[in-house]
Amino acid sequence: MLVKGPGSPALCERLAERLDADVVDVEHNIFPDGEHYVRLLDDVHGEDCVLVQATYPDENLLELFLIQDAIFENGANSLALVVPYYSYARQDKRFMTGEPVSARAISRLIEVGCDSFFSIDLHSENVLDFFNIPSTNLSAMPLLVDHACLFDPDILLSPDEGGKERVMQAAEGTEIDWDYLVKKRIDGETVIIEPKGMKAEGKTVVILDDIISTGGTMVEAARQLFEQGAEEVHAGCTHGLFVGDSLKCLEALCDSVFCADTVECERSEVTVAPLILHELYGIE
Ligand code: R5P
Repeated sequence: MLVKGPGSPALCERLAERLDADVVDVEHNIFPDGEHYVRLLDDVHGEDCVLVQATYPDENLLELFLIQDAIFENGANSLALVVPYYSYARQDKRFMTGEPVSARAISRLIEVGCDSFFSIDLHSENVLDFFNIPSTNLSAMPLLVDHACLFDPDILLSPDEGGKERVMQAAEGTEIDWDYLVKKRIDGETVIIEPKGMKAEGKTVVILDDIISTGGTMVEAARQLFEQGAEEVHAGCTHGLFVGDSLKCLEALCDSVFCADTVECERSEVTVAPLILHELYGIE
């Protein structure tokens, strides 16, 4: 049975449609004092359940814990947890004295309530090491590249060195060149991207990243490319958080903006359903 977490309803419906499976709806409310309430609207007794729930924003993380508890409290046999976007993965180590390893703290809470864990484009694969249950990270990059092919790109580009491997692997098996830029983060919203002789003049470039949050990285990368004479710049990512007016800014600058449905939003033009169907059910 597929349990439709309130953080990922459209993705769950897409999976159910392709599987012809039953969906367990989840009622969710907030009490006047701000506490959350959830209730499964179907019987899961004896069932092997798959719960699909992104953990952004934080409300979804909290509701995830409650739904996990409800699933076992109501007699489910097993739970495979699919977290299409796993938040807090960027804090996968202690960067400064006094900090927590947030990704580990979250994994400890999650793993007590499920039998296996699946996620997509975790910001860092290190996160898998924090789980003591079978855990898997899937990549949506090939699906994003398929979408990018609509624009007939000359270059697939990572906006920073950290995303270089992702883009390199996604470009494998295509005829499209790939490259990366060098980014320096100043603070949560400001980044500097070093100009790089990329031969972008007259080219169509698709920038691909795992996350667009404040949009600072994408905006800087796109500006650099236009300054270097790029003809078209498209911005794509797996997880579109689009904080504040970042989507508006990006749309004013780029030729198109797209993301996957790991965080559901108006630019979720690529579904990760095929990845999940293949990994969990062996369906091509
Ligand atoms: C950082 O290493 C990530 O891969 C993304 O580049 C980053 O999280 C994007 O954040 P923002 O949109 O706030 O620049």
